[in-house]
Amino acid sequence: MASAASAAPPIAAGDETTDLSKQYDTPIGLAHTTMQALKDRIKLHYDLASDYYLNLWGEHIHHGYWPTAESKANDTKEFAQLSLIRLLLEVSGVGGGRVLDVGCGVGGTSRFLASQLGCDVTGITISGKQVQIATRLTKAESGKAASEQPSAVEADADGFLQLGKGKVRFVELDAERMGEFFAAEAGSFDVVWISEALSHFPNKALFFQNAHRLLREGGKLVLADWFKAEGLGQQEFDSDIKPIEDGMLLPPLCTQQEYVQLATAAGLKTFGGPKDISQDVSKTWDISWSLVQNPSLWAFAFSQGRDGIAFLQAFRAMRRGYADGSFRYAVMSFVK
Ligand SMILES: C[S@@+](CC[C@H](N)C(=O)[O-])C[C@H]1O[C@@H](n2cnc3c(N)ncnc32)[C@H](O)[C@@H]1O
Repeated sequence: MASAASAAPPIAAGDETTDLSKQYDTPIGLAHTTMQALKDRIKLHYDLASDYYLNLWGEHIHHGYWPTAESKANDTKEFAQLSLIRLLLEVSGVGGGRVLDVGCGVGGTSRFLASQLGCDVTGITISGKQVQIATRLTKAESGKAASEQPSAVEADADGFLQLGKGKVRFVELDAERMGEFFAAEAGSFDVVWISEALSHFPNKALFFQNAHRLLREGGKLVLADWFKAEGLGQQEFDSDIKPIEDGMLLPPLCTQQEYVQLATAAGLKTFGGPKDISQDVSKTWDISWSLVQNPSLWAFAFSQGRDGIAFLQAFRAMRRGYADGSFRYAVMSFVK
């Protein structure tokens, strides 16, 4: 729409509209003028919304996993979120080591891997606010374990905070730069972990190439993400997938097989999955829908203007997409 497109914010100096970035315009033409514009909106979203996520949803910003009828009847969302991490460990055979947690949120998974498995975890996120929250939560957990005040918990020379037998640090970084940023540590990570973050990245091929570059031989890429179903018709795409991409700040969603192809093209071999667990995670959005009845969240969404409203409206589309089978969730792992 010409009028909406002409109201789009100016492109920051140095940004370029590329063939790839042109795919990311939303229906009203406001969004994603360039890949950098999309990333700026993602960063702003997580900078502004992370306190709300933490209050309403807890330290894990990912789906819960309810694999059985019994779990669906009994497990809390907090337990189900840990069940998803346990499933990822099962699918990948990961049991410890040096981990890069890409798109780490407020660090729930990073802390779990450090405290439960003794991993050394570097969590990266595009949101500086998430780094602050993640660091604060980690100091609190570390201090509690050592019977110290959080303020007494000090990072080591490399910025790691001790947690159980493991350690954790958080870095504000656009993951699309992780290959250069960790160039000195190329080939040294045992695990690259990415949970519900890759769907935000414009250049997914680059992510798989960087994961391959940073992993040691035999190292694992562990992945959970959102997908569109294979062979969708235009009507299902328009009614279910487009509002999810728009409201959740996602470039075009991929199918599970597209991830496998990109990983393989980057030199990785399939190790576990893809395991489609859509039916066992969809309860997440029934719970989310009841959580968003909270008026403070709508007030926050309205204060964020069009993006905030589109975000909450996407919750409905997520439930519809799962019910229709057009929107899918899967876990998978790869080995170098
Ligand atoms: C849905 S949250 C998942 C958080 C976490 N992995 C979890 O499972 O709890 C998506 C995360 O991806 C991060 N993210 C999105 N785009 C990013 C980018 N280009 N570079 C780094 N992090 C990014 C966000 O900041 C956020 O932390």
